Amino acid sequence: EKEMYTFTPGSDTITLRPEGTAGVVRAYLQHNFHKNPSLTKFWYGGPMFRRERPQKGRQRQFHQVGVEAIGSTDPLLDAEVIKSAYDYYQALGIGGVTIKLNSIGCQAPDCRPAYREVLRKAIQPELSNLCKNCQSRFERNILRILDCKNPKCQEIRGQFPRSDAHLCRECKTHHAVVCEALTASGIEFIQDPYIVRGLDYYTRTVFEFSHSALGAQDAIGAGGRYDGLIAELGGPPTPAVGFAIGIERVLIVMEALDCCACQSPLQIFAVAVEETCRQAMMGLLSRLRSLGFSADMDFEGRSMKAQMKKANRLGAAVVLILGPDELSAGEVTVKDMREDGEQRRVALGEIEAVVKTFLKAG
Ligand code: HAM
Repeated sequence: EKEMYTFTPGSDTITLRPEGTAGVVRAYLQHNFHKNPSLTKFWYGGPMFRRERPQKGRQRQFHQVGVEAIGSTDPLLDAEVIKSAYDYYQALGIGGVTIKLNSIGCQAPDCRPAYREVLRKAIQPELSNLCKNCQSRFERNILRILDCKNPKCQEIRGQFPRSDAHLCRECKTHHAVVCEALTASGIEFIQDPYIVRGLDYYTRTVFEFSHSALGAQDAIGAGGRYDGLIAELGGPPTPAVGFAIGIERVLIVMEALDCCACQSPLQIFAVAVEETCRQAMMGLLSRLRSLGFSADMDFEGRSMKAQMKKANRLGAAVVLILGPDELSAGEVTVKDMREDGEQRRVALGEIEAVVKTFLKAG
Protein backbone atom coordinates (compact mmCIF):
# COMPACT_ATOMS: atom_id res chain seq x y z
CA GLU A 1 0.00 0.00 0.00
CA LYS A 2 2.98 2.35 0.20
CA GLU A 3 2.69 4.97 -2.46
CA MET A 4 5.78 4.72 -4.60
CA TYR A 5 7.56 7.21 -6.80
CA THR A 6 7.69 5.60 -10.22
CA PHE A 7 9.09 7.25 -13.35
CA THR A 8 9.18 5.98 -16.89
CA PRO A 9 12.06 7.71 -18.67
CA GLY A 10 12.10 6.23 -22.18
CA SER A 11 11.39 2.53 -22.05
CA ASP A 12 12.68 2.11 -18.48
CA THR A 13 10.63 2.05 -15.34
CA ILE A 14 12.38 3.45 -12.31
CA THR A 15 10.98 3.35 -8.80
CA LEU A 16 12.61 5.16 -5.90
CA ARG A 17 13.02 2.82 -2.94
CA PRO A 18 10.37 3.28 -0.25
CA GLU A 19 12.40 1.26 2.29
CA GLY A 20 15.61 -0.75 2.62
CA THR A 21 14.65 -4.33 3.42
CA ALA A 22 13.83 -5.48 -0.11
CA GLY A 23 17.07 -3.92 -1.38
CA VAL A 24 19.14 -5.69 1.27
CA VAL A 25 17.53 -8.99 0.32
CA ARG A 26 18.20 -8.28 -3.36
CA ALA A 27 21.88 -7.62 -2.53
CA TYR A 28 22.00 -10.74 -0.33
CA LEU A 29 20.88 -12.87 -3.27
CA GLN A 30 22.85 -11.00 -5.93
CA HIS A 31 26.09 -11.48 -3.99
CA ASN A 32 25.38 -15.14 -3.23
CA PHE A 33 25.20 -14.95 0.53
CA HIS A 34 22.49 -17.62 0.34
CA LYS A 35 25.08 -20.13 -0.98
CA ASN A 36 26.68 -20.08 2.45
CA PRO A 37 23.56 -19.92 4.51
CA SER A 38 24.73 -18.96 7.97
CA LEU A 39 23.30 -16.03 9.90
CA THR A 40 24.46 -12.78 8.29
CA LYS A 41 23.84 -9.35 9.80
CA PHE A 42 23.55 -6.18 7.73
CA TRP A 43 22.99 -2.54 8.49
CA TYR A 44 22.18 0.33 6.17
CA GLY A 45 21.22 3.96 6.11
CA GLY A 46 20.02 6.36 3.49
CA PRO A 47 17.16 8.30 1.94
CA MET A 48 13.82 6.61 1.24
CA PHE A 49 10.91 7.95 -0.81
CA ARG A 50 7.18 7.58 -0.32
CA ARG A 51 4.48 9.50 -2.10
CA GLU A 52 2.37 9.95 1.03
CA ARG A 53 0.46 13.00 2.17
CA PRO A 54 3.10 15.08 4.01
CA GLN A 55 2.44 16.02 7.64
CA LYS A 56 4.49 16.42 10.82
CA GLY A 57 6.92 13.50 10.90
CA ARG A 58 5.83 12.27 7.48
CA GLN A 59 7.96 13.40 4.58
CA ARG A 60 8.13 12.26 1.02
CA GLN A 61 11.90 11.95 1.32
CA PHE A 62 13.20 10.81 4.69
CA HIS A 63 16.08 8.76 6.09
CA GLN A 64 16.21 5.37 7.68
CA VAL A 65 18.91 3.45 9.50
CA GLY A 66 18.11 -0.22 9.63
CA VAL A 67 19.43 -3.68 10.37
CA GLU A 68 18.56 -7.01 8.80
CA ALA A 69 19.62 -10.33 10.34
CA ILE A 70 19.22 -12.99 7.67
CA GLY A 71 19.44 -16.75 8.16
CA SER A 72 17.92 -17.78 11.48
CA THR A 73 14.48 -18.61 12.90
CA ASP A 74 15.71 -18.26 16.49
CA PRO A 75 13.18 -16.20 18.48
CA LEU A 76 16.08 -14.90 20.59
CA LEU A 77 17.27 -13.13 17.44
CA ASP A 78 13.93 -11.27 17.25
CA ALA A 79 14.53 -10.16 20.83
CA GLU A 80 18.11 -9.15 20.06
CA VAL A 81 17.02 -7.10 17.04
CA ILE A 82 14.36 -5.32 19.13
CA LYS A 83 16.87 -4.73 21.91
CA SER A 84 19.45 -3.26 19.54
CA ALA A 85 16.95 -0.68 18.27
CA TYR A 86 15.97 0.10 21.85
CA ASP A 87 19.65 0.51 22.81
CA TYR A 88 20.08 2.94 19.89
CA TYR A 89 17.34 5.20 21.29
CA GLN A 90 18.83 4.91 24.78
CA ALA A 91 22.29 5.85 23.49
CA LEU A 92 20.79 9.01 21.97
CA GLY A 93 19.25 9.86 25.33
CA ILE A 94 15.66 9.24 24.18
CA GLY A 95 13.60 8.07 27.14
CA GLY A 96 9.91 7.16 27.07
CA VAL A 97 10.02 4.88 24.01
CA THR A 98 7.06 2.48 23.92
CA ILE A 99 7.58 -0.91 22.31
CA LYS A 100 4.45 -2.44 20.82
CA LEU A 101 4.75 -6.12 19.97
CA ASN A 102 2.52 -8.57 18.15
CA SER A 103 2.67 -11.79 16.16
CA ILE A 104 0.77 -11.99 12.89
CA GLY A 105 1.48 -15.70 12.45
CA CYS A 106 2.75 -17.56 9.40
CA GLN A 107 1.41 -18.88 6.10
CA ALA A 108 0.54 -22.34 7.50
CA PRO A 109 -3.12 -23.03 6.69
CA ASP A 110 -4.07 -23.23 10.37
CA CYS A 111 -2.39 -19.88 11.14
CA ARG A 112 -2.74 -16.56 9.29
CA PRO A 113 -4.94 -17.86 6.43
CA ALA A 114 -7.35 -19.32 8.99
CA TYR A 115 -7.24 -16.09 11.03
CA ARG A 116 -7.95 -14.06 7.89
CA GLU A 117 -11.10 -16.14 7.36
CA VAL A 118 -12.23 -15.69 10.97
CA LEU A 119 -11.59 -11.97 10.60
CA ARG A 120 -13.46 -11.79 7.32
CA LYS A 121 -16.55 -13.35 8.90
CA ALA A 122 -16.38 -10.98 11.86
CA ILE A 123 -15.82 -7.84 9.77
CA GLN A 124 -18.35 -8.51 7.00
CA PRO A 125 -21.44 -7.42 8.96
CA GLU A 126 -19.64 -4.24 10.10
CA LEU A 127 -18.20 -3.32 6.73
CA SER A 128 -20.59 -0.46 5.99
CA ASN A 129 -19.67 1.15 9.35
CA LEU A 130 -15.96 1.23 8.49
CA CYS A 131 -14.17 4.02 6.59
CA LYS A 132 -13.78 3.90 2.79
CA ASN A 133 -10.12 2.93 3.12
CA CYS A 134 -10.99 -0.05 5.32
CA GLN A 135 -13.73 -1.09 2.95
CA SER A 136 -11.19 -1.35 0.15
CA ARG A 137 -8.72 -3.09 2.46
CA PHE A 138 -11.33 -5.77 3.14
CA GLU A 139 -10.51 -7.30 -0.22
CA ARG A 140 -6.89 -6.21 -0.62
CA ASN A 141 -5.33 -6.62 2.81
CA ILE A 142 -7.84 -7.36 5.51
CA LEU A 143 -5.32 -7.31 8.38
CA ARG A 144 -4.65 -3.62 7.76
CA ILE A 145 -8.21 -2.83 8.92
CA LEU A 146 -6.89 -3.53 12.41
CA ASP A 147 -4.37 -0.67 12.35
CA CYS A 148 -6.64 1.96 10.79
CA LYS A 149 -6.16 5.36 12.47
CA ASN A 150 -9.82 6.39 11.99
CA PRO A 151 -11.35 6.73 15.51
CA LYS A 152 -14.63 5.11 14.43
CA CYS A 153 -12.84 2.09 12.93
CA GLN A 154 -10.72 1.85 16.07
CA GLU A 155 -13.85 1.75 18.20
CA ILE A 156 -15.39 -1.05 16.15
CA ARG A 157 -12.24 -3.17 15.91
CA GLY A 158 -12.45 -4.00 19.63
CA GLN A 159 -15.10 -6.58 18.77
CA PHE A 160 -12.96 -8.31 16.11
CA PRO A 161 -11.02 -11.48 16.99
CA ARG A 162 -7.36 -10.92 17.93
CA SER A 163 -4.51 -12.45 15.94
CA ASP A 164 -2.71 -13.74 19.02
CA ALA A 165 -5.67 -16.02 19.77
CA HIS A 166 -5.39 -17.62 16.32
CA LEU A 167 -1.72 -18.51 16.00
CA CYS A 168 -0.56 -22.02 15.12
CA ARG A 169 1.35 -23.90 17.80
CA GLU A 170 4.81 -23.03 16.40
CA CYS A 171 4.01 -19.34 16.10
CA LYS A 172 2.57 -19.29 19.61
CA THR A 173 5.76 -20.84 21.02
CA HIS A 174 7.95 -18.49 18.97
CA HIS A 175 6.06 -15.46 20.27
CA ALA A 176 6.20 -16.68 23.87
CA VAL A 177 10.00 -17.06 23.66
CA VAL A 178 10.42 -13.56 22.17
CA CYS A 179 8.37 -12.10 25.03
CA GLU A 180 10.31 -14.10 27.60
CA ALA A 181 13.68 -13.01 26.16
CA LEU A 182 12.67 -9.34 26.17
CA THR A 183 11.47 -9.58 29.75
CA ALA A 184 14.71 -11.31 30.74
CA SER A 185 16.64 -8.43 29.11
CA GLY A 186 14.69 -5.96 31.24
CA ILE A 187 12.86 -4.49 28.25
CA GLU A 188 9.28 -3.44 28.80
CA PHE A 189 6.81 -3.85 25.96
CA ILE A 190 3.10 -3.80 25.28
CA GLN A 191 1.35 -6.68 23.55
CA ASP A 192 -0.64 -4.84 20.90
CA PRO A 193 -2.88 -7.03 18.74
CA TYR A 194 -3.48 -4.11 16.40
CA ILE A 195 0.11 -3.87 15.18
CA VAL A 196 -0.05 -5.62 11.82
CA ARG A 197 2.38 -3.43 9.80
CA GLY A 198 1.86 -1.96 6.37
CA LEU A 199 4.39 -4.00 4.41
CA ASP A 200 3.22 -7.34 3.11
CA TYR A 201 6.29 -9.45 3.80
CA TYR A 202 5.96 -9.90 7.56
CA THR A 203 5.54 -13.22 9.33
CA ARG A 204 5.29 -13.87 13.07
CA THR A 205 6.95 -11.08 15.09
CA VAL A 206 6.04 -7.48 14.30
CA PHE A 207 6.89 -4.45 16.42
CA GLU A 208 6.83 -0.68 16.53
CA PHE A 209 8.66 1.87 18.65
CA SER A 210 6.54 4.91 19.37
CA HIS A 211 7.01 8.17 21.23
CA SER A 212 4.44 10.60 22.61
CA ALA A 213 6.53 13.60 21.52
CA LEU A 214 5.43 12.86 17.95
CA GLY A 215 1.94 13.57 16.65
CA ALA A 216 -0.27 11.14 14.76
CA GLN A 217 2.82 9.67 13.09
CA ASP A 218 4.25 8.41 16.36
CA ALA A 219 6.44 5.51 15.16
CA ILE A 220 10.15 6.28 15.47
CA GLY A 221 11.05 2.85 14.19
CA ALA A 222 9.53 -0.49 13.34
CA GLY A 223 10.23 -3.91 11.97
CA GLY A 224 9.59 -7.57 12.21
CA ARG A 225 10.29 -11.04 10.93
CA TYR A 226 9.95 -11.81 7.24
CA ASP A 227 10.58 -15.53 6.77
CA GLY A 228 9.01 -15.66 3.29
CA LEU A 229 10.54 -12.66 1.50
CA ILE A 230 13.84 -14.17 0.39
CA ALA A 231 12.09 -17.12 -1.28
CA GLU A 232 9.59 -14.71 -2.80
CA LEU A 233 12.47 -12.78 -4.38
CA GLY A 234 13.89 -15.95 -5.93
CA GLY A 235 16.18 -17.30 -3.19
CA PRO A 236 15.92 -20.45 -1.09
CA PRO A 237 13.55 -20.32 1.90
CA THR A 238 15.54 -18.19 4.37
CA PRO A 239 14.21 -16.69 7.60
CA ALA A 240 15.07 -13.09 8.55
CA VAL A 241 14.24 -10.30 10.96
CA GLY A 242 15.08 -6.59 11.06
CA PHE A 243 14.02 -3.04 11.79
CA ALA A 244 14.34 0.47 10.41
CA ILE A 245 14.54 3.68 12.43
CA GLY A 246 13.12 6.93 11.04
CA ILE A 247 15.90 9.47 11.51
CA GLU A 248 13.81 12.65 11.04
CA ARG A 249 11.33 11.42 13.66
CA VAL A 250 14.19 10.60 16.01
CA LEU A 251 15.42 14.19 15.57
CA ILE A 252 11.94 15.59 16.30
CA VAL A 253 11.84 13.60 19.54
CA MET A 254 15.41 14.58 20.49
CA GLU A 255 14.55 18.22 19.98
CA ALA A 256 11.36 17.93 22.03
CA LEU A 257 13.21 16.19 24.86
CA ASP A 258 16.20 18.50 24.61
CA CYS A 259 18.48 15.47 24.30
CA CYS A 260 22.11 16.41 24.09
CA ALA A 261 23.64 13.03 23.35
CA CYS A 262 25.07 14.47 20.16
CA GLN A 263 26.89 17.22 22.03
CA SER A 264 29.30 15.26 24.19
CA PRO A 265 31.35 17.75 26.17
CA LEU A 266 34.76 18.73 24.90
CA GLN A 267 37.59 17.00 26.73
CA ILE A 268 40.53 19.26 25.95
CA PHE A 269 40.93 22.90 24.96
CA ALA A 270 44.45 24.04 24.18
CA VAL A 271 45.44 27.61 24.99
CA ALA A 272 48.42 29.33 23.35
CA VAL A 273 50.19 31.95 25.43
CA GLU A 274 51.74 33.52 22.32
CA GLU A 275 51.26 33.36 18.58
CA THR A 276 54.62 31.54 18.25
CA CYS A 277 53.24 28.55 20.19
CA ARG A 278 50.28 27.90 17.91
CA GLN A 279 52.09 25.73 15.35
CA ALA A 280 53.41 23.41 18.06
CA MET A 281 49.94 23.36 19.60
CA MET A 282 48.35 22.14 16.38
CA GLY A 283 50.76 19.20 16.37
CA LEU A 284 49.87 18.46 19.98
CA LEU A 285 46.15 18.60 19.24
CA SER A 286 46.38 16.24 16.33
CA ARG A 287 48.33 13.77 18.49
CA LEU A 288 45.69 13.96 21.21
CA ARG A 289 42.87 13.54 18.71
CA SER A 290 44.53 10.47 17.23
CA LEU A 291 44.65 9.05 20.75
CA GLY A 292 40.85 9.39 20.84
CA PHE A 293 40.45 12.61 22.87
CA SER A 294 38.12 15.36 21.67
CA ALA A 295 40.25 18.47 21.49
CA ASP A 296 40.04 22.01 20.13
CA MET A 297 41.88 25.33 20.10
CA ASP A 298 41.24 28.97 19.19
CA PHE A 299 41.25 30.02 15.54
CA GLU A 300 39.99 33.56 16.02
CA GLY A 301 43.04 35.38 17.39
CA ARG A 302 41.76 35.55 20.98
CA SER A 303 43.86 36.78 23.89
CA MET A 304 44.92 34.18 26.43
CA LYS A 305 42.20 35.34 28.81
CA ALA A 306 39.57 35.09 26.06
CA GLN A 307 40.84 31.60 25.15
CA MET A 308 40.33 30.52 28.77
CA LYS A 309 36.81 31.95 28.67
CA LYS A 310 36.09 30.04 25.47
CA ALA A 311 37.37 26.81 27.07
CA ASN A 312 34.93 27.43 29.91
CA ARG A 313 32.05 28.13 27.58
CA LEU A 314 32.70 24.91 25.67
CA GLY A 315 32.72 22.98 28.94
CA ALA A 316 36.23 21.62 28.34
CA ALA A 317 37.28 19.26 31.12
CA VAL A 318 40.98 19.96 30.75
CA VAL A 319 42.94 22.96 29.44
CA LEU A 320 46.46 22.65 28.08
CA ILE A 321 48.54 25.82 28.23
CA LEU A 322 51.49 26.18 25.94
CA GLY A 323 53.84 29.15 26.33
CA PRO A 324 57.46 29.81 25.29
CA ASP A 325 58.73 28.47 28.65
CA GLU A 326 56.85 25.22 28.25
CA LEU A 327 57.93 24.94 24.63
CA SER A 328 61.63 25.25 25.36
CA ALA A 329 61.37 22.76 28.23
CA GLY A 330 59.40 20.25 26.08
CA GLU A 331 56.55 20.51 28.53
CA VAL A 332 52.95 21.70 28.76
CA THR A 333 50.79 23.00 31.60
CA VAL A 334 47.74 20.84 32.22
CA LYS A 335 44.84 22.41 34.11
CA ASP A 336 41.88 20.52 35.49
CA MET A 337 38.91 22.82 34.86
CA ARG A 338 36.77 21.66 37.77
CA GLU A 339 36.52 23.92 40.78
CA ASP A 340 39.78 23.72 42.76
CA GLY A 341 41.13 21.58 39.95
CA GLU A 342 44.84 20.88 39.94
CA GLN A 343 47.31 22.55 37.55
CA ARG A 344 50.57 20.80 36.68
CA ARG A 345 53.47 21.14 34.27
CA VAL A 346 54.21 17.84 32.60
CA ALA A 347 56.59 16.55 29.96
CA LEU A 348 54.97 16.27 26.50
CA GLY A 349 55.35 12.49 26.63
CA GLU A 350 53.27 12.29 29.81
CA ILE A 351 50.28 14.29 28.62
CA GLU A 352 48.13 11.34 27.69
CA ALA A 353 48.43 9.72 31.13
CA VAL A 354 47.88 12.98 33.02
CA VAL A 355 44.85 14.03 30.93
CA LYS A 356 43.38 10.56 31.46
CA THR A 357 43.79 10.88 35.25
CA PHE A 358 42.16 14.31 35.21
CA LEU A 359 39.26 13.08 33.06
CA LYS A 360 38.76 10.08 35.29
CA ALA A 361 38.71 12.25 38.40
CA GLY A 362 35.98 14.36 36.75
P1 HAM B 1 8.31 1.23 8.16
O1 HAM B 1 7.46 1.07 9.38
O2 HAM B 1 7.60 1.42 6.89
O3 HAM B 1 9.21 -0.08 8.07
O4 HAM B 1 9.33 2.41 8.38
C1 HAM B 1 10.22 2.41 9.49
C2 HAM B 1 10.29 3.80 10.10
O5 HAM B 1 10.63 4.77 9.10
C3 HAM B 1 8.97 4.31 10.67
O6 HAM B 1 8.75 3.79 11.97
C4 HAM B 1 9.22 5.79 10.71
O7 HAM B 1 10.00 6.15 11.83
C5 HAM B 1 10.04 6.02 9.46
N1 HAM B 1 9.18 6.50 8.36
C6 HAM B 1 8.39 5.78 7.56
N2 HAM B 1 7.75 6.56 6.66
C7 HAM B 1 8.16 7.82 6.89
C8 HAM B 1 7.88 9.10 6.29
N3 HAM B 1 7.06 9.22 5.24
N4 HAM B 1 8.49 10.21 6.81
C9 HAM B 1 9.33 10.09 7.86
N5 HAM B 1 9.65 8.91 8.46
C10 HAM B 1 9.07 7.79 7.99
C11 HAM B 1 10.12 -0.30 7.08
O8 HAM B 1 10.48 0.51 6.30
C12 HAM B 1 10.70 -1.71 7.12
N6 HAM B 1 11.66 -1.83 6.01
C13 HAM B 1 11.37 -1.99 8.45
C14 HAM B 1 11.98 -3.34 8.52
C15 HAM B 1 13.29 -3.65 8.39
N7 HAM B 1 11.32 -4.47 8.66
C16 HAM B 1 12.18 -5.49 8.63
N8 HAM B 1 13.36 -5.00 8.47
